[in-house]
Amino acid sequence: MKKVMLYPLWLRIWHWSNAILFLVLILSGISMHYSATNELFLSFDVAMYTHNIAGILLSLFFGIYLIMNIVSGNYKHYIPQIQGIVDRMIKQSIYYVYGVFKGHDHPFHTSEKLKFNPLQQLTYFAIMFFLLPVILISGWLLMFPELAPENVLGMGGVWPMAILHIVVGFFLSLFMFGHIYLATHGETPTANFKSMIDGYHEIHEHHSPSLVINAGNIDEYGDDSKKIDLHDDYEVHKEGDADYNPETKVIKK
Ligand code: HEM
Repeated sequence: MKKVMLYPLWLRIWHWSNAILFLVLILSGISMHYSATNELFLSFDVAMYTHNIAGILLSLFFGIYLIMNIVSGNYKHYIPQIQGIVDRMIKQSIYYVYGVFKGHDHPFHTSEKLKFNPLQQLTYFAIMFFLLPVILISGWLLMFPELAPENVLGMGGVWPMAILHIVVGFFLSLFMFGHIYLATHGETPTANFKSMIDGYHEIHEHHSPSLVINAGNIDEYGDDSKKIDLHDDYEVHKEGDADYNPETKVIKK
């Protein structure tokens, strides 16, 4: 078994601060939303104050997250490889809705090169670089309504910003619950949570990259982006060979 550092300290500090702030924002946001008819968790004044402070801190942490992603190169893990993306996403979706209940092996194994599976990659990309900036910007415009555009699609002032903020907030809350559920699909139900705490991911021997033939090319298993040429170091296993494995058709000699 090999241990690799996948989540450096800055990322873990950002992640858990972000998660706590998200919970605070959801609770205070719901309190404000229903405050005209009910006092749910917090009174309107306390909820608004809490929501604004948490939103400012979330923006600050997001700025640090962006800078550190660029400095450390971690952003590269988020950029989806377009070639073959649909096939890879289908493979991962089938695993989530069927394979996982049948005890099948993960179709993509986490490594230093491939931190996210294709669905994680696309979701994290959309959340971190699209939905989160939208909710932060609309939140700031609600805090400073004089800066909001005067007219959006015929509606005046702050209304469109409020609707955008609530709709995106709803989807981000859904993401968070889906994200927590899917994070239990690691090697063991708690493995990913442990990794996000100590930073290390454990790579088990039977998951070390093996090679498969994919559409006539030789691909490194679990990382379709890296193609290697078939050469003398490798041997192709064919159906009918004693140790033929349909997943791993090519082995290193
Ligand atoms: C209580 C709430 C949360 C828990 C328990 C949680 C748990 C985890 C775990 C276990 C991982 C590592 C494994 C994986 O990639 O799936 C992770 C990664 C990640 N989470 Fe969360 N999460 C929470 C909230 C959030 C929120 C609110 C966001 C963003 C809006 C978020 C964004 C991310 C991102 C972007 C990564 C990958 C970071 C990287 O490696 O670059 N998480 N989370």
